[in-house]
Amino acid sequence: MDYRSRNRAAYDRLVQQGAVFAKVATDEECQKPLATLDSRGWLPKSVQGLNVLCLAAGGGWQSILYASAGAMVTVVDLSPEMLALDQREAKRRNLNLKLLECSMDDLSGLYAEQFDIVHQPVSTCYVPDLVPVFAEVSRVLKPQGIYLSQHKSPVSLQVTDRTEKDQYIIGLPYYQEGPLPGVNDTSYREAGAVEYLHRYEQILGGICKAGLMIEAFSEPLRANPTAKPGDYRHRGQFIAPYLRIKARKVAQMESKTPAAGIWLPE
Ligand SMILES: C[S@@+](CC[C@H](N)C(=O)[O-])C[C@H]1O[C@@H](n2cnc3c(N)ncnc32)[C@H](O)[C@@H]1O
Repeated sequence: MDYRSRNRAAYDRLVQQGAVFAKVATDEECQKPLATLDSRGWLPKSVQGLNVLCLAAGGGWQSILYASAGAMVTVVDLSPEMLALDQREAKRRNLNLKLLECSMDDLSGLYAEQFDIVHQPVSTCYVPDLVPVFAEVSRVLKPQGIYLSQHKSPVSLQVTDRTEKDQYIIGLPYYQEGPLPGVNDTSYREAGAVEYLHRYEQILGGICKAGLMIEAFSEPLRANPTAKPGDYRHRGQFIAPYLRIKARKVAQMESKTPAAGIWLPE
């Protein structure tokens, strides 16, 4: 089975098991949708009437919050079960969503320069190559459009186990090619999914190469000093599990050919 089929099946199963990623937006969260989506204030003050793509974001959380805030929302996801949650919640709340079942590395079902915002929760770990993902994001964003994304940190994906002294073992190489093997410490891995480690140069450098300018960067806190070993917040004290990035599509580089009479330095 290829990575798409494996991850589709894994997420369909996770929905049936009521996993944490399949939690839909609550009434309370829908009262303050932008604050819930974006505690850092990276989004515009209003998204009313904006075109938003929730990329690899099925599950009825991001989509419902953006739609509650007045945005026109498209959801892309590989898992029919995750998309069914979006559909069910939208119907229940009388909201409109467009749903598209496809892979983040092939958005050929979407027009170029369509979206003001692309919001991608943790999911780039499920594809082997980020180049087509960022190229597609850049293509579907309008000029000056915003790309908000969260990624698993490479070092977190290198962790394989915890010792008897509750120290975490970095047991996989940084230059890991191909799918990650199964590990004993699964605090930040999803059962049955095939995952890939992407290095900083591939994440941050890849976003820049795709014509997106990084404006903000943070490492969401998952540390709790009172958490017991075995709890993801215990591990979060030692290794930041996620990277969150705000980038903006910049205008095409202008031709370097100087206009007549104007001198440009090299
Ligand atoms: C961690 S969940 C994110 C969604 C969730 N709403 C959240 O709040 O975090 C990752 C999502 O990525 C989707 N996914 C995995 N591989 C994908 C791919 N190649 N293309 C599109 N979506 C994919 C999964 O089906 C799942 O819905």
